[in-house]
Amino acid sequence: MSDNSNSDASKQSKRILTGIKPTGIPHLGNYVGAIRPAIESIQNSDDEAFFFLADYHGIIGCYDPAIIHESTKTIAATWIACGLDPERVTFYRQSDVPEITELAWILNCSCAKGLMNRAHAYKAAVDINLEKDDVDADQGINMGLFGYPVLMAADILMFNATHVPVGRDQIQHIEMARDIAGTFNHRYKPLFTLPSAVVDDDIPLLTGLDGRKMSKSYSNTIPLFGETNPQVSSEKQMHKAIMKIVTNSQLPDEPKDADDSAIFEIYKAFATPAEIADMRAQFATGIGWGDAKQALFDKINNEIAPFRARYEELMANPKELEEILQMGADKARRHSRKQLDKTRRAIGIRPLAKLK
Ligand code: TRP
Repeated sequence: MSDNSNSDASKQSKRILTGIKPTGIPHLGNYVGAIRPAIESIQNSDDEAFFFLADYHGIIGCYDPAIIHESTKTIAATWIACGLDPERVTFYRQSDVPEITELAWILNCSCAKGLMNRAHAYKAAVDINLEKDDVDADQGINMGLFGYPVLMAADILMFNATHVPVGRDQIQHIEMARDIAGTFNHRYKPLFTLPSAVVDDDIPLLTGLDGRKMSKSYSNTIPLFGETNPQVSSEKQMHKAIMKIVTNSQLPDEPKDADDSAIFEIYKAFATPAEIADMRAQFATGIGWGDAKQALFDKINNEIAPFRARYEELMANPKELEEILQMGADKARRHSRKQLDKTRRAIGIRPLAKLK
């Protein structure tokens, strides 16, 4: 685990916060890379935790209201079904806490435009445009994408989070949040804790069906619970996806290189060290690809099957999910109202007089 914390955060008790963008159906890579480690780390600690659905971040790149709506539901149901305890964790939808977007505006005014010019996601979008002829550098880039890191800073600074578990691609955003907090604190008063990114180097990045990194954008994922479909159970959907993992043409009894196989790599993310050693030995002596895939399916299914019933129940009963999210929003707003009030006062926005 690497933690770029310095003295600011490490002295205080931990407050963990992370956001999840609701723009797709969760897959095995999301489960292994984010959902499972986040839930386990909370279960094994006394740290305060805030997890939220970043729906206002979702609309920056997804203009389909049905996808935003449906994936908010799917992702909330997934996290709860996989064991997130909404009593233990403050679990909310970003858009239910309007103080966050209000804070984002205030922070915009403590954020240098040049800082945003240097954001990787924005620069990558500009670079794609510059490669084309006769296309403006900023074509197709909305202000939401440009200011993405400011909204993210508001998410984090609102709750004075100390530790922010993220993927490597998000580290720059956390550094920007520190930068913005520093500017504000220096200019007005020290209201915001400087957060630290927490990146877990031990978490595996899964390979997808086609051998590239498992990612929604490559359409090579193994869905965690699958599409809601009365004809095909989610268990069958997972089985079918696993059977589609691309392999080479080696015959069943030929010795195989475990380290070159997506099947083995995904297996490792679910099995115990003894099971991994055993599978490695089977690869060395020769296991048929079909048998290896079946063993992989059994291993994953063993872990996921207990969550399925709860998932289906929540998907069929959005009222229960909505109640969970509203409970989370209530808890979150107890903090955010106070923090926004202090922030507004600090910048000189407060009532002119007390009215009875
Ligand atoms: N940008 C993050 C991602 O794409 C999601 C996110 C939004 C987030 N706000 C956050 C993560 C605040 C950590 C903290 O994965």
